[in-house]
Amino acid sequence: MSNKAMDPWFAFGLGVGSKNAQGAWLEVFFPAPQIGGDLPSSHVAAEHDALAKLLGYSGGNQVIEVTAEQLKTLPLAAKTYQPFVDSSRPVVAVFLASDVAPESVPEAYLKLHLLSHRLVQPHGQNLTGIFKVLPNVAWTNLGAIDPAELPAAQLKARLSGAPLTVRMVDKFPQMIDYVVPSGIRIADGARVRLGAYVGSGTTVMQEGFINFNAGTEGPNMIEGRVSSSVWVGAGSDLGGGCSTMGILSGGNSTPISIGKNCLLGANSGLGIPLGDDCTVESGLYLTAASKVRLVARDGSDGRTVKARELAGRSGLLFRRNSLNGALECLPIKGSIELNADLHDHN
Ligand SMILES: CC(C)(COP(=O)(O)OP(=O)(O)OC[C@H]1O[C@@H](n2cnc3c(N)ncnc32)[C@H](O)[C@@H]1OP(=O)(O)O)[C@@H](O)C(=O)NCCC(=O)NCCS
Repeated sequence: MSNKAMDPWFAFGLGVGSKNAQGAWLEVFFPAPQIGGDLPSSHVAAEHDALAKLLGYSGGNQVIEVTAEQLKTLPLAAKTYQPFVDSSRPVVAVFLASDVAPESVPEAYLKLHLLSHRLVQPHGQNLTGIFKVLPNVAWTNLGAIDPAELPAAQLKARLSGAPLTVRMVDKFPQMIDYVVPSGIRIADGARVRLGAYVGSGTTVMQEGFINFNAGTEGPNMIEGRVSSSVWVGAGSDLGGGCSTMGILSGGNSTPISIGKNCLLGANSGLGIPLGDDCTVESGLYLTAASKVRLVARDGSDGRTVKARELAGRSGLLFRRNSLNGALECLPIKGSIELNADLHDHN
């Protein structure tokens, strides 16, 4: 192996994927995506160098398809990639020297894998324009199919006596078909998209949902929606049916984060970032512009502020006063403790 100093690089991976009848990529699976940086481990550097040399990679961001002949000469330094030698499917190497907006399906999928492999945190890389890059796909028991080719595939399957099951039609596949990070439980796979960051010790119940470029630090209990760009700190609990505001539609442009040991009550909603040890009462939707009455510990009324002025503050309880309907914010002591039995992942 050469000892020359490597050029800095952002990420790379060797993947196997599916194409439609026109030869356009539908999806790519990267079993061992790698993240670069200034000091990559010697193992990662060796794999990167070996692949780069084999494929004639000359720098910059490149997507290079790999032929069966090339795979047969894959050097031992790239041992993670030896199983690819037997591939009957299209194989592609993605080299990203810099973190710019993804321009192709393989680049976009590599970046989604980086998130779900916990190599990059939400907001930690450039995903600008990813919706335009990703094609819509029918996700079936026979793999990814271009929706335009689905009727023919369905007929063919029926005629052969083995019906095709279409699980969903979406630009993003379910994460656990690509990555199952350690120490998690996910009760309904379709509700966690590839590109979610699911921290160790996270349980996502049937009502829970985690979008791409969003996630949990772990441990967490997720029975509500973690919208795109939302980050949930360790020990926080999202109650059944609760909602966090994303930034993809609807005008909200402030990414929502939830600190450590917070509780979003069942059917509540959150439109501001929270600090640590905060609770939102069950059923209360806290929007950023809502006017909130501050209530002191002795029960006396204080100022009225907009909820967004309380963004990021710790130790707050938000509730709707059941007698007068006013939105109130009270200081709370202590924190919500997660039920240890519910968080056992063994
Ligand atoms: C908001 C919430 C946290 C308050 O719980 P709490 O801090 O334990 O408060 P308590 O129920 O002990 O009530 C304390 C006092 O506040 C009063 N109070 C509670 N909620 C009130 C409200 N919305 N308006 C007016 N008073 C209220 C109580 O009546 C009680 O008054 P008292 O001191 O005169 O007896 C709780 O109601 C809640 O919504 N929890 C969420 C649980 C949940 O959804 N978990 C997820 C399941 S999936």
